[in-house]
Amino acid sequence: MTGKKARIIAVVNEKGGVGKTVTVINLGAGLSTKGKDVLIVDMDPQLNATKGLGVSLDQDSPSVYDVIKVSEPVPAQAAIVKTAWEHLDLLPSHADLSGVEIELVDEPGRENRLKEALAPVLDLYDFILVDTPPSLSVLTVNVFAFAQEILVPCQTHPYSYGALDELLETVSVIREEINPDIKITGVLPTFFDQRTRVSNIVLDSLRADERFQGGLFDTVIRVNTTIAESAYYGKPVVFFRRSSTGAGDYMALTDEILA
Ligand SMILES: Nc1ncnc2c1ncn2[C@@H]1O[C@H](COP(=O)(O)OP(=O)(O)OP(=O)(O)O)[C@@H](O)[C@H]1O
Ligand SMILES: [Mg+2]
Repeated sequence: MTGKKARIIAVVNEKGGVGKTVTVINLGAGLSTKGKDVLIVDMDPQLNATKGLGVSLDQDSPSVYDVIKVSEPVPAQAAIVKTAWEHLDLLPSHADLSGVEIELVDEPGRENRLKEALAPVLDLYDFILVDTPPSLSVLTVNVFAFAQEILVPCQTHPYSYGALDELLETVSVIREEINPDIKITGVLPTFFDQRTRVSNIVLDSLRADERFQGGLFDTVIRVNTTIAESAYYGKPVVFFRRSSTGAGDYMALTDEILA
């Protein structure tokens, strides 16, 4: 027992490619550099957060799939692995996770499997950050049931801004039916490109939008090719090149989360 009580933040957006995974691994990395004990949970069968943290597992190593599956689940502690960095642990994903939908279809309480499975580790971490797939499925519903807060990356492009309506709708249904206490910690503008008019227009619209409870983060994540490069090397950009704008932006987000 460490007496910690994890703050559980899910990074969600049904739209693909908006920076969810990059945000999870770099916010996690940033918090770990501040001495916070962080667990990253990869709930995406694409395994991007797992790979982005440089973790490669054998086909039969336990993953979050084994933790939430119906027959003979394993305890979360048995599937959590250490990353190469201090204070930063991972509950890895597995391609089999995509089959969970079918497996849980007739299972009572199926939306609470992640929450129940992770209850024993909440006091080991200061933060649990959950990466989610770009879809609404039993996996994301499990994340919504488990999370206290949601962080929504939104590309500073018109389509992404429009897609926020859908997300706000989803969150209100989740509040009514599954998790009345869940709150939107903030919308995070991503892929911001100062030179383009459209990026600036969308950022202004986001800032003027009153629907976001808790508002918009002051931090804006700029387009930065070092971010994509670091993913290729299986390292958060915060560790890969601390002097990059990508690392700087994610450290600013870290400070904002801790403030
Ligand atoms: N600020 C950025 N600047 C440049 N490239 C970025 C930035 N953020 C993310 N990327 C790159 O864009 C791609 C999509 O990012 P990411 O994987 O984080 O999105 P995602 O929302 O998790 O996508 P998916 O919905 O498929 O899971 C990745 O190749 C990533 O390295
Ligand atoms: Mg992703």
